[in-house]
Amino acid sequence: MSQDLAQWMGTPIDELNRMPQCAPPLSHLKAVPDHTVTIRTDLLREGEVPASYPSKFKDAWDDVSVKMPCSEKNLFPMDAEDGGGVQSRWELIQTALHGGFKSSLDVRDAILRYNIAHAKKWDFTALNLLCTEFLEQSELEHLFETTLPAMVDLALSAPVLCTLPIPLLKSGINHSLTLSQEQIACLLANAFFCTFPRRNSRKSEYGNYPEINFYRFFTKKNRKIKNSVVLLQESNRDKAQGSCHIQRQALNTPPNWETSQTQLKRLHITCEGTIEDDGYGMLQVDFANKSVGGGVTGHGLVQEEIRFLINPELIVSRLFTEALEFNECLIITGTEQYSKYSGYAESYRWKANHMDETARDDWQRRCTEITLPGAVSSEKMTRELNKAYCGFFRNNGKHLSAVATGNWGCGAFGGDTRLKALIQLMAAAEAGRDMAYFTFGDAQLMRDVHAIHSFLTERQVNVGRLHELLNQYSSLVCKNCRTTRPDVTLYSFIYEKVSSPMAADAQDSTKDSG
Ligand code: AR6
Repeated sequence: MSQDLAQWMGTPIDELNRMPQCAPPLSHLKAVPDHTVTIRTDLLREGEVPASYPSKFKDAWDDVSVKMPCSEKNLFPMDAEDGGGVQSRWELIQTALHGGFKSSLDVRDAILRYNIAHAKKWDFTALNLLCTEFLEQSELEHLFETTLPAMVDLALSAPVLCTLPIPLLKSGINHSLTLSQEQIACLLANAFFCTFPRRNSRKSEYGNYPEINFYRFFTKKNRKIKNSVVLLQESNRDKAQGSCHIQRQALNTPPNWETSQTQLKRLHITCEGTIEDDGYGMLQVDFANKSVGGGVTGHGLVQEEIRFLINPELIVSRLFTEALEFNECLIITGTEQYSKYSGYAESYRWKANHMDETARDDWQRRCTEITLPGAVSSEKMTRELNKAYCGFFRNNGKHLSAVATGNWGCGAFGGDTRLKALIQLMAAAEAGRDMAYFTFGDAQLMRDVHAIHSFLTERQVNVGRLHELLNQYSSLVCKNCRTTRPDVTLYSFIYEKVSSPMAADAQDSTKDSG
């Protein structure tokens, strides 16, 4: 095929490693000090809903655990007419949600009963529109007769399902958490009904945590409302029988980029397809905000938000993940895709339900591993390398799946695709992974990155040398790249330097001395 018509270049995608085929058998799932497991590991069986651990609700109202709506410490001030003082907020939530809903106004009224302080601010226009304009009569009946009552039951089963305190994944601390999909559905149902205490104001103790209650989903112009209902309806579909694992990972000893002798690994690059569809079984990159999920519960609708909407179990990470530092990432394994979508950003549309048939591993997780390497906007190259590396590396660096990625940091964050592609290739090489790169329709980018990758590989330019070249480019050519276009592109600079190092070095020395 002529290069101009090629849809993909480099290594055929089927030659890259995918989970579960590439991985050695997993060790037995076990709670250890840095891994909290909220299910009975001894009873974990394929095809069965995991049992919660422990059997009775353990209340914790402290600064290392999620404050649960069903905690007896969750109190609500009473009206002066009712004698003042405080009452159990959970009892109020139960009464409000058990009242039954006939219309979206009933849903609103119920939510506001235990969120009185926000009654004037919260706006439920999208929820009303969904019910009055967007849904067909039969869908509406299904919503009020089946979906909402099931969501209420699910939300109110928190003290039975989520019995172990959920640890906060705090800044700078490596910790991971295994939850069942049913527990996640329960937590998300609570998020839908906005029951989580202390989470409605940025100024609260959770100021450095993402928003979790869904009140912004309901506001005007929010086209994601359909997702928020679908996700709950679907996430309880045949009582999801698996678990998800969420790991916060910090990079304590970054590689020495200057001296690295590592060669680039293999690259498959394509202008067709997406990370989520074609990168199945690979380590899939979420172009994340440091506040995980970015604007998913608000108005954001680019790569990360879309991923969180179609794999809604990702949203639960917002409940307990403190904002990611520059040297940290979050890795989430086992979420399921519930929706198909079309379009992107303004043109995004929920399309249909999706039946996820991804295999499960021995911990009963879907083999979908998503890495969130935190924010990347306008920073120093070494920081970006470390960030990508943190997202890609594993302690046991063998048998690793390929990274499935794309224009990380180059949409909302405005980065340069050609530079970011090299940075990710270097980080993947150092972490010992091949890469599948999805250019999202950009055929020229595919050809350019393929060409430079082939060139660097043929000439055996290692990561250390490439690091040096990137630094030279930034100091010699690209001093003012933010404001003006450089005279020489990054890739031309690399071609020239590597092809005729003597000439290029001579040029540097004139420039340096001048
Ligand atoms: N598969 C492959 N490539 C994609 C896909 C996909 N599914 N979707 C988008 N792209 P962006 P950023 C390409 O802007 O710059 C969010 O609010 C497409 O070319 O999401 O890192 C986060 O929460 C797109 O332009 O990533 C952060 O706050 C490019 O990837 C912020 O945006 C970049 O997508 C991150 O912004």
